[in-house]
Amino acid sequence: MFHARRSSASAFILFVAVMSLLAPLAVAQFPGAQAKQYPWSDASLSPDARADMVLKEVTLDEKISLLHGQGMSFFATKPTESNGGAGYSVSIPRLGIPAVQMADSAYGVTRGAAAGRYSTALPNNLGAASSWDPEAAFEYGALIGRELRDEGYSMSLGGGVNLPREPRDGRTFEYQGEDPLLAGTLVGNFVKGVQSQNLIGDLKHYALNDQESGRNAVNVNIDKRSMRESDLLAFEIALGISDAGGVMCSYNRLNGDYACENSYLLTDVLKKDFHFKGFVLSDWGGTHSAAKASHAGLDQEQPGQSFYGDALKKAVESGEVLQDELNDHVHRILRTIFATGLFDHPVRKKVPDVEGGLVIAETMAEKSIVLLKNEKGVLPLDSSTLHSLVLIGGHADVGVLSGGGSAQVNAPGGSPVPPPPRAQGQPGAFMRTEWMPSSPLRALKAQFSGAKVSYVSGDNVEEASTAAKGADAAIVFAYVWESEGFDLKTLDLPEEQNKLIEAVAAANPRTIVVLETGSPATMRWVDKVAAVIEAWYPGIRGAEALANIVAGKVNPSGKLAITFPKSDADLPHPKLVMPPPPSDPKFPGPGGDFGGFMAAMAKGLPAFQVYYDEKLKVGYKWYDAEKKAVLFPFGYGLSYTTFAYSGLSVSGEDAPTVSFTVKNTGARAGTEIAEAYSSLPEAAGEPPKRLIGWSRVELGPGESKQVSISVSRERLTIYDETTDSWKLVPGSYAVMVGGSSQDLPLRKEIMLH
Ligand code: BGC
Repeated sequence: MFHARRSSASAFILFVAVMSLLAPLAVAQFPGAQAKQYPWSDASLSPDARADMVLKEVTLDEKISLLHGQGMSFFATKPTESNGGAGYSVSIPRLGIPAVQMADSAYGVTRGAAAGRYSTALPNNLGAASSWDPEAAFEYGALIGRELRDEGYSMSLGGGVNLPREPRDGRTFEYQGEDPLLAGTLVGNFVKGVQSQNLIGDLKHYALNDQESGRNAVNVNIDKRSMRESDLLAFEIALGISDAGGVMCSYNRLNGDYACENSYLLTDVLKKDFHFKGFVLSDWGGTHSAAKASHAGLDQEQPGQSFYGDALKKAVESGEVLQDELNDHVHRILRTIFATGLFDHPVRKKVPDVEGGLVIAETMAEKSIVLLKNEKGVLPLDSSTLHSLVLIGGHADVGVLSGGGSAQVNAPGGSPVPPPPRAQGQPGAFMRTEWMPSSPLRALKAQFSGAKVSYVSGDNVEEASTAAKGADAAIVFAYVWESEGFDLKTLDLPEEQNKLIEAVAAANPRTIVVLETGSPATMRWVDKVAAVIEAWYPGIRGAEALANIVAGKVNPSGKLAITFPKSDADLPHPKLVMPPPPSDPKFPGPGGDFGGFMAAMAKGLPAFQVYYDEKLKVGYKWYDAEKKAVLFPFGYGLSYTTFAYSGLSVSGEDAPTVSFTVKNTGARAGTEIAEAYSSLPEAAGEPPKRLIGWSRVELGPGESKQVSISVSRERLTIYDETTDSWKLVPGSYAVMVGGSSQDLPLRKEIMLH
């Protein structure tokens, strides 16, 4: 036995030694390794020059082949070049042009299960936005970039930056909140992080795709100024920071035209005003024409070739689409392959750094979790006095919830909570609830080893309140699953969860509620419980991060990137606008005849209207302007310590610098996210205030720091529709500073011209 083991060990060592000698040879022969030199291999040339050189060599058929996908791998009937992701465009081996292998990767690399691959599930995007931390956003993106590469992908389909005009949107969890400066800055850094790994990053869904219900049919009505200052501004900022290689146009129509054939969106704004140099790819099945889409600025159809295959070729041959226009599409794709470094750094698969990913996931979750209420300092729980703690509901014995749809990262080892049976008519395989095997029960037992930490499911309310009565403290885990493909009917928790919370709160005054939601939740029981923690979908280390916060090892610092309203009735659209039922009862829904649905989608579905008549008033701007009280405001979040603000000064005309002092007035070290807002002169016709900057300030107990925030002048301008340009309205601006959008103790008026 011993011998056998020793000889297999030495065989292994021999194997490694031989392989390492052969390695350079293997790399040289690896087809994607760019061993062959081409004129465009010269990395000192500009990406444009390199793309032009290739463009001269490609045939019409090769050009067309770069402009569309090849179907989705799970529907493929014969072997393809696909790496198993959502889509890809082919390689051109004779010219050394690699395939672009695309994978959804909003909070981690998706669809790993089918290929037996592992990837890190980070906290969901809206959760991560609560960190207000651009550096962490970069690190988050860089981790995803590394894992994409390790798994053989070369393009991320993450980068969701839609603003939640409709917070019941089933994809709110994939976006980064309601403020264009915050969302744009964080998503920009995320995509920059992805592209730091020499991969193509992507921003999506461009634009105004703010609800899932009827997303392939809806026509969004909104004026230019409102979109430029809100939803499109988030894209503009994100693009400016990231130089993203891809922008995915969305499913919906905007002011009459589908986003993927909307020349205002794709050409006037994105390519001209934003100077976008990458390529526009359609959302999956979001292309509806060849010539019209091509003229409007769509560069690539995904995932198939309903329009950008033979139909586009015919349009080119007939002269309906000019060579220059075709070449521009191709140039953009080739240029991106060079500009991102993908050509010079071919992708090679390897095992991802699992341990490294776990550390980043945990730190990120700690920064994402928001402490919303903490009466009489019930938290952190004190391990020296706590004898018993009961966890109730939310499958807290085994895991934490994750967000679904095309963003779904598969749980390693499979979801510890079996998915409910698929309801009839419910769409595809990736529309199933998955829980990450990060167990709050295990993590809290580890923190409170001297106490009895137990779990009851909460299915039986009486059993739960009896357990709560007998414990020093109770934590109820409440959750709402969110996914691409449908919207939430309401921001209320399901009734049985509200009842469970009320019953437990009545039984134990030290009741803490932990929420796992992807959108804001309303809380009719908020006055009855001692503490509320928003944990979002906290990822593969979510429970460990949560336990660190509950036990006070980590002082919470997250602040809301989205307003929590008191009720649906306070939203700009109290009722979600739903598509009319199909007039043809046999009309295929996405859950039924998939092929039929795709065909109907390509033809174009009958439009229904959504009017974004709240205009500029997105998120906190709505509640401010309408003077509606909220449950928890934008920018809000508690710490285990307290902070005081003083000494505001604002200097500099062109780009004001906002300076002030923040002091930690408590006994624990903590991080304060200090926020600066400004009102605009009356004549600007703007909502009462907008975010103009922020700073994360780390402070020891009693420590003070002077903080300076440089505000770019652009952040104080408005969009003038008559001249199609940004302008500064001369007059008085009130700069306000503090710890949330509704707690701004410092204020100073300045005049700007
Ligand atoms: C989603 C995109 C996603 C694509 C590919 C679409 O249904 O809207 O966000 O990237 O599928 O999976």
